Amino acid sequence: MSQISRGLENVFIKTTSLTYIDGENGILRYGGYDIEDLVEHTSFEEVVHLMLYGDLPTKLQLQRLKSALDEAYEVPQQVIDMIYSLPRDSDAVGMMETAFSALSSIYGMPWNKATNRDNAVKLVARASTVVANVLRAKEGKKPAIPEPSESFAKSFLKASFSRTPTEEEVKAMDAALILYADHEVPASTTAALVTSSTLSDIYSCVVAALAALKGPLHGGAAEEAFKQFVEIGEPDMTESWFKRKIIEGKSRLMGFGHRVYKTYDPRAKIFKKYAKVISERNSDARKYFEIAQKLEELGVETFGAKHIYPNTDFYSGVVFYALGFPVYMFTSLFALSRTLGWTAHVIEYVEDQHRLIRPRALYVGPLKRDVVPIELRG
Ligand code: CMC
Repeated sequence: MSQISRGLENVFIKTTSLTYIDGENGILRYGGYDIEDLVEHTSFEEVVHLMLYGDLPTKLQLQRLKSALDEAYEVPQQVIDMIYSLPRDSDAVGMMETAFSALSSIYGMPWNKATNRDNAVKLVARASTVVANVLRAKEGKKPAIPEPSESFAKSFLKASFSRTPTEEEVKAMDAALILYADHEVPASTTAALVTSSTLSDIYSCVVAALAALKGPLHGGAAEEAFKQFVEIGEPDMTESWFKRKIIEGKSRLMGFGHRVYKTYDPRAKIFKKYAKVISERNSDARKYFEIAQKLEELGVETFGAKHIYPNTDFYSGVVFYALGFPVYMFTSLFALSRTLGWTAHVIEYVEDQHRLIRPRALYVGPLKRDVVPIELRG
C-alpha cells in the first residue's frame, strides 16, 4: 500500500538556496546569513536583492534596485478603484487577493529567465501600494501611492498613514519586513509553487499564496495571537485566562508551536526585542507587551516539554499595533513581506527545477457500483 504523508510532513518538494531552517536549534538563515545579522545590519531592499539576485548588493546594485522599486509603486487606476469599490468591512487579505487578481490580468506574462527577477521586484513594490491602500480604503481615506524615500519601509508607512514616520518606526517596520520575507515552503509558498508548476503567471502564484496564508493556522495567527492579549485585557488577568482558556478549555495558544521549530522560533526573539522598544511610547501597546510576556512564560512552562514555543506571530502583532496598524491588517503586512519569498521560490522552481506538481490520492471508496435509475432509488 502507498504511503500517505499527512500534511506533507517531511516531504521535500524542491531544493533551495534561499532559506535554511534548523528547527532543532532555532536557526534561520537567508542565503547563508543569520536572520539576526540581516535584521541588524541590512535593510529590506538589501534582502530583496539577496533573495532575487543571489547576494547582498553592492552600493551601486542597491541604488539600482531602489530605483526599480520606486518606479514600480504606481499601479493602474483600475486596481486602486477595485480596492476602494469593495465594502469597507471586507477582509483585508481578500482585498489583496482581488487586487492581485486584477494585477495578474494586467501584468501576468509568460516566464522569461531574462525578466523574471526584475518582474518580481516590481511585484513587491506593487504589493506595498496594494497593502497601503487596503488599509486606507478600510479606514475611509483617499488613495495614496508610496513615494520614493530613503527606504521601502518608510515609503510604505508614509503612504499608509499620511505622516512621516519616526526613525524608530521605520526600523521596526523594516525589521518586520525582513523577518517575514521568507520561510522556506510553508502552506502559502507551497500553494504558490503548485500554481507556478502549471506555468501560470507570477501574480496568480501570489493570489494562490494569499488564499493559503489567510488561515488562522498560518499567516492569520498573528491576528489571533494579538486578539488573545486584547481578550485578557490586563496583565494581572493573564494567569486566570490561561488556566480557563488553554488548560481547562483546551484551546490552542495562538502564536505558539511550529511544524519545523522544536524550540524558540528565532524570529519570535527578534520581534520581542522590537516589540519592547516600539511599545514604550504607547501605553496600550506596552500593556499588550506585558500580557504577551506573561503569556509566553505560562506557555513555555506548560508546553515547552512538548517542544511548543513562541513562533514568529506571537510578538509581531505588538510591533504592528504600536506602529498604528489595526489588528485586521496584520496578515496583510505579513503578506507584503512574504511576496518576496513567494516570488523568489517560484522563480527558483520554474527556472531550475520545473515539473508539474500532480500528486495522487489513494482511492478508498466503493470499488464498482451499478447506477440505479433515479425513479427506482426511492
Ligand atoms: N497550543 C497548544 N497545543 C498545541 C499548539 C498550541 N499552539 N500547537 C501544537 N499543539 C499540540 C497539539 O494539540 C498536539 O498535541 P497532541 O499530540 O497531544 O494531540 C501536538 O501539539 C501536535 O500538534 P499538531 O497540530 O499536530 O502539529 P503541527 O505540526 O501541525 O502544528 C501548528 C503546527 C502551527 C499548526 C500548531 O502549532 C498550531 O496550531 N499553532 C497555533 C497557530 C499558530 O500560531 N500558527 C502560526 C505558525 S508559524 C507562522 C506561520 O506559519 O504563519
